Amino acid sequence: MSEAYILGIESSCDETAAAVVRSGEEVISSVVVSQIATHQPYSGVVPELASREHLRAIVPVVRRALADAGRDYAALDALAVTQGPGLAGALLVGISFAKALAYALEKPLIAVNHLEGHIHAVLLEERQKGNYELPFPLMTLVVSGGHTHLYLAEQNGPAWTYQMVGHTRDDAAGEAFDKVAKLLALGYPGGPVIDALAPHGRADAVKFSPAQIKHRQRGDESPAPRQPHFDFSYSGIKTAVVRYVETHALLPAIERRRQALAAFLTPQTGDVLALCDPPTLDLVASFQRAMVDDLAGKTLAAAREYGVSTLLISGGVAANRELRETFKRRAAQEGLPVYFPSRPLSTDNAAMIAAAAFPKFLAGDFAAAELSAEASLPLR
Ligand code: KG4
Ligand code: ZN
Repeated sequence: MSEAYILGIESSCDETAAAVVRSGEEVISSVVVSQIATHQPYSGVVPELASREHLRAIVPVVRRALADAGRDYAALDALAVTQGPGLAGALLVGISFAKALAYALEKPLIAVNHLEGHIHAVLLEERQKGNYELPFPLMTLVVSGGHTHLYLAEQNGPAWTYQMVGHTRDDAAGEAFDKVAKLLALGYPGGPVIDALAPHGRADAVKFSPAQIKHRQRGDESPAPRQPHFDFSYSGIKTAVVRYVETHALLPAIERRRQALAAFLTPQTGDVLALCDPPTLDLVASFQRAMVDDLAGKTLAAAREYGVSTLLISGGVAANRELRETFKRRAAQEGLPVYFPSRPLSTDNAAMIAAAAFPKFLAGDFAAAELSAEASLPLR
């Protein structure tokens, strides 16, 4: 069977999502319930609360995805679920539900790596546009709240193989956006709010020097020759923002903003903007510019080093407008095509999980009955 309707289920972090996708190329339905309101008071995801919210949402979200698709359970060919990486307790909710449903329906279950899901969000949308062939090899950057990973991807029949050629040594890029937003009392999650505020500030106002990572070179210590590596580090830039806040006496303004925003249930960009003075907006714009320059610079250096034909950028931070513009401009200068998911499919969703499951469905690569959550599942 070369056509398949797959129900995808995603619960690795703070979104409960379900989607029906046809043959990895057409989104029939996609439902995402976000827990932002639950985690907002803590300015970050609280794992226990995430698991509890997934338990509440999973049944209605899956039912809604089927209703929106106009299909019943019998019309599905397979189920797919995120195995990891992610929060163990959150992953287990999706996995337990998917296992029970697959067992009851006597349908195959496919385990999907969340990071491969982010990559397939791009492929899914390209296929929807009629583009079935991306030139290999590819350099893919998965950049989210939990990951900043660079993979060299090659095609091996319908399946892909991945070699990790860089990753963050400390904070993920999305985590840096979230932590800086928390520090400046701009709201949660930090990425979208900084994205919206940055155009109102001067990006060259504050100089941040991106972390220079020392890599061991070929022949150093290790007997095996090493491949070049392109690692990231974002804890330093967060500390630099802390220092800037202290030395430029921004703390009283931050405290006033924190108190003012506490009065809003869900503050909108305009509310936050009205509470930001020009020095804060300059700081935000400069922080975003430094993050984007570093991500684009290292990804393009890796692309040159490995001689790839295509760039693929995915994950929550790929929704960032300045990041997209910068990648498009700099990739064009190097004659490299660059692909992103649409903004809704950049952040966590289940359509990407159902799409990534399709090649595994064709290969008969189904999950064993013992399938369990793997919080640090690597992508290979
Ligand atoms: O992929 P995702 O939904 O969940 C994870 O797998 O982590 O990514 C969420 C992350 C958060 O850190 C959020 O602040 C960031 O992506 N993010 C953004 C934007 N939208 C979401 N960062 C920068 N600019 C954005 N527009
Ligand atoms: Zn994600």
